[in-house]
Amino acid sequence: MRRVVLAGRGELGEWRDAARALAAAGILPEEIDWREKSAEADLSFQRDAMPPAPAASRKPMTVPPAFIELAETVLCHSDTARFSLLYRLLWRLQLDRQLLEVNSDEDVVRARSMAKNVHRDAHKMTAFVRFKEVGAVSAGRRKFIAWFEPDHHIVRRTAPFFQRRFNDMDWLIATPKGSAAWDGERLTISDEPCEKPNLSDATDELWRTYYSSIFNPARLKVKAMQAEMPKKYWKNLPEADLIPGLIASAESKVRAMAAREATQSLPFHERLQQAARNLPAEPELPAGTLEALRAEAAVCMRCPLHANATQTVFGEGPRDAAVMFVGEQPGDQEDIAGRPFVGPAGKLFDQVIAEAGIDRSMLYVTNAVKHFKYEPRGKRRIHQKPTMGEVKQCRWWLDLELALVKPKLIVAMGATALAALTDVTGRLQDVRGKAMAIEGGRTLFVIVHPSYLLRIPDERLKAEEMLRFRQDMMEIRGLMKATA
Ligand code: URA
Repeated sequence: MRRVVLAGRGELGEWRDAARALAAAGILPEEIDWREKSAEADLSFQRDAMPPAPAASRKPMTVPPAFIELAETVLCHSDTARFSLLYRLLWRLQLDRQLLEVNSDEDVVRARSMAKNVHRDAHKMTAFVRFKEVGAVSAGRRKFIAWFEPDHHIVRRTAPFFQRRFNDMDWLIATPKGSAAWDGERLTISDEPCEKPNLSDATDELWRTYYSSIFNPARLKVKAMQAEMPKKYWKNLPEADLIPGLIASAESKVRAMAAREATQSLPFHERLQQAARNLPAEPELPAGTLEALRAEAAVCMRCPLHANATQTVFGEGPRDAAVMFVGEQPGDQEDIAGRPFVGPAGKLFDQVIAEAGIDRSMLYVTNAVKHFKYEPRGKRRIHQKPTMGEVKQCRWWLDLELALVKPKLIVAMGATALAALTDVTGRLQDVRGKAMAIEGGRTLFVIVHPSYLLRIPDERLKAEEMLRFRQDMMEIRGLMKATA
């Protein structure tokens, strides 16, 4: 028996060189005892374990490209049996070139299953890495660290994904199976196992707010949820400790939801009468004040949306706020409360601005459209996007708010706000995260709407978008300071 010891860090080259030499020397699969260096601390990588150079006459073994592709993935698996499995397949492929297409073959099934595990682990890594900001910004770049515990040797193959997606920040992903680091110029991969750093910070609270906001007890499918977010990843996910409680309370929440009556607005004529009763008594509010504007907007009938909404949800914030945030339209909870951004999107908004060090009481927060547009469905009121016509009608109020508050910086949250503020109907992606000079010497900054973040089903995209949203908010804070 010949013992071959490999480092086994998921690199094709190392195994391929060994397999080539062994095959060229005619050493059969059953004659080799493949070992992994980490599991064999006392054994050095012995050159004498390798066979002598092949006789020149021996024909080198060849394989189809599909085998190389499969081997590249299988070698990332952490099972030591991967080396012998691939070597056996290498030999068998010399007799049967179509072997990899035999779906019932035991070796093929095993190799494909290992490859699947590796793909899955890599996918989970892209979804569940949670970056935490560390240290000061240097050379204008912010620094982040993340901790992840992969099952397999996937750091090397997943690192380019993070390099592409998080190119504009410095980061280190530490794992017990090595690390990857990016500094804006170089991607450094190390096989050295890392220790878990202590990374708890304010971001954890953000993930928790986000997760509880998107959790819908009526849609809970425990099995599907655990397949998407398996328990083994929970310990490094700040939001995970909420899950058992959310699952446990889901049933009673659904019962309570079903028992609750639909949120109904008053019938139209009654609402008009109520609005008329609420008209300010003489003497009138001083013209040109936000209070007067709010009172006027309370009886707005400029478009049909007033007919089904409970009330006008006007903007709120200081009369001389330097920064105005503009959303799309009030949601179900805002319609009832009569205040903007108090529902799930508002909670996420509050959390992110607080984390960025922005005080909401300094902001003027409003919407492009001031009435809740929805479609009744059973007992629920389902949000409907306002049409451009409705946005244009409501611009009357937004323009008056802008004229009174005179913010230096305006933040458009989402495409509707952008269209209301600029008449731009293009892709949000093209302008988001950019500060633009607009008329009146003002600056416009475009970000996504927090409701968009709450609706993203894909874990990976969600993590990316959340990070970007937080970065945008930090940028806004910088602009606020610059314009102060
Ligand atoms: N979405 C908005 O655009 N505005 C709100 O006030 C609430 C949710």
